[in-house]
Amino acid sequence: MRHHLTIAAALLGTCHNVVALEWSATYGRQPAPFKLSVNPEIIALAHQKAYLTRFPVDVEQPDWSDGPPVHNATSVRDYWVNEYDWSEVQREINSQFKMFTTTVDAKPHSNYEEPVPLHFVHHRSNRSDAIPLLFIHGWPGSFLEVANLLEPLTNPHDQALPAFHVVAPSIPGFGFSPAPKKPLFGPRAAGEAFNNLMLQLHYPHYVIQGGDLGGFINRFMASSHPETVLSVLSNFWLVQPNSTDFERYYAGKTTSDENYLINEFWNFENKSSGYRFEQQTQPLQIGHAMTDSPIGFAMYIYEFMFLTVQHYVWSAKELITWSLMYWIQGPYAGFRFYKESVNDNILENGLLINSTTFPYVHQPVALSEFPADIWYRTPLDWAQRGGNVVVRKVHDKGGHFPSIETPDVLIDDIRSFFGNGSLANTTIQP
Ligand SMILES: *[C@@H]1O[C@H](CO)[C@@H](O)[C@H](O)[C@H]1NC(C)=O
Ligand SMILES: *[C@@H]1O[C@H](CO)[C@@H](O)[C@H](O)[C@H]1NC(C)=O
Ligand SMILES: *[C@@H]1O[C@H](CO)[C@@H](O)[C@H](O)[C@H]1NC(C)=O
Ligand SMILES: *[C@@H]1O[C@H](CO)[C@@H](O)[C@H](O)[C@H]1NC(C)=O
Ligand SMILES: *[C@@H]1O[C@H](CO)[C@@H](O)[C@H](O)[C@H]1NC(C)=O
Ligand SMILES: *[C@@H]1O[C@H](CO)[C@@H](O)[C@H](O)[C@H]1NC(C)=O
Ligand SMILES: *[C@@H]1O[C@H](CO)[C@@H](O)[C@H](O)[C@H]1NC(C)=O
Repeated sequence: MRHHLTIAAALLGTCHNVVALEWSATYGRQPAPFKLSVNPEIIALAHQKAYLTRFPVDVEQPDWSDGPPVHNATSVRDYWVNEYDWSEVQREINSQFKMFTTTVDAKPHSNYEEPVPLHFVHHRSNRSDAIPLLFIHGWPGSFLEVANLLEPLTNPHDQALPAFHVVAPSIPGFGFSPAPKKPLFGPRAAGEAFNNLMLQLHYPHYVIQGGDLGGFINRFMASSHPETVLSVLSNFWLVQPNSTDFERYYAGKTTSDENYLINEFWNFENKSSGYRFEQQTQPLQIGHAMTDSPIGFAMYIYEFMFLTVQHYVWSAKELITWSLMYWIQGPYAGFRFYKESVNDNILENGLLINSTTFPYVHQPVALSEFPADIWYRTPLDWAQRGGNVVVRKVHDKGGHFPSIETPDVLIDDIRSFFGNGSLANTTIQP
């Protein structure tokens, strides 16, 4: 009940807006074990705000073209109010993940000057030949995305399979890595921070797996750090068609893969990219409302989560937990990462027509493409404009969250690429 008092005090103007973390943590200069313990007041506040949610009046459309239907919002509210048990979720997170905190710098290849406190998952294999693997989550996910990979990668059932030490950091502003204190923290700076994290963990050579924002960050990391990053597996290798491609498309000279990609790309840009434009232009404008409304934010991310899976059914519990990975510290920092991606020249404030803005990756790259995701069927020669793509796997099941929807497929791709020493340059790892 204490949060009622805090709200009353704030209304009376007697409470200062003290910015403090809503969870217990210290971020020292070396890795230290971390157990999640979120301030019960913020959990109670979310619950109370969910209870008080005001809903829009639906216009009864057969599809999701305006966004998630209101009946989904009310059913998630009902679950949140009547059944959702954060203390159980917190116990599950603490038993499933070995978590740590530390602090690193975003140097040398970024202009972000502040120290970067990090939360990360780290599961070591007991195999002496294990390959260090950095897993980078995306939007609107979090470190939770790595869950299904941990046991099969660190402790494979068959000794003939490759083993991995898995490191999965929270991007600052997501999960339990505190939001950057100042601007200029985008994918480039995140890559610097994560490279320093791997060095701090004594992994001088490692491989990276990532999609979505992780698929942005890994390209900066590989390009800036040929001395540490051996190879990259991306399930989100963004290659925008350029103006010549569009000319060929309108002239009817493009291949079926190129047609598919361009149609899907337009479809997404025309119908589903509103969130991205808002986040990359005025993140604080939606930041105010989203920081206040847990159901509003849950519906905001549910749209993307729902549209980019093939068959997976997100439970209300899962949706609420994913939302809380942003809402506990406030989702504004997560939004802003898109604005910083524009500053880092990889997103544009307009339609995506420029394919030359990502740094080129010289290390071997493997692509895993999934049908419900945006860059499905990216032609190999387009993909190779962005890097040394040596493997392209076009799967027939799954979507934007392969570690959730089709973990076995992703695990097979990770094993077959990084386990091939000559292909992925993993024979030189320590
Ligand atoms: C590695 O640990 C697992 C249990 O976590 C155990 O079953 C296995 O025997 C261990 N392997 C080695 C090589 O120590
Ligand atoms: C393999 O990695 C090492 C160490 O980073 C690097 O020196 C070498 O150039 C890489 N080889 C290829 C083919 O990328
Ligand atoms: C588009 O990419 C293709 C292949 O790399 C290249 O030949 C063409 O010149 C590019 N067009 C523009 C306008 O950059
Ligand atoms: C998307 O918008 C573009 C530009 O307005 C238009 O040319 C294209 O036909 C649209 N495509 C789809 C699939 O909506
Ligand atoms: C939202 O509603 C659809 C049916 O329209 C249902 O399939 C889905 O499971 C619902 N999601 C949640 C989180 O309640
Ligand atoms: C595309 O990016 C390149 C490199 O950053 C830049 O020189 C060019 O002006 C951009 N073109 C457009 C149309 O934005
Ligand atoms: C490793 O990759 C190379 C190049 O694709 C291939 O020729 C070789 O058969 C692969 N090795 C294994 C063990 O799969």
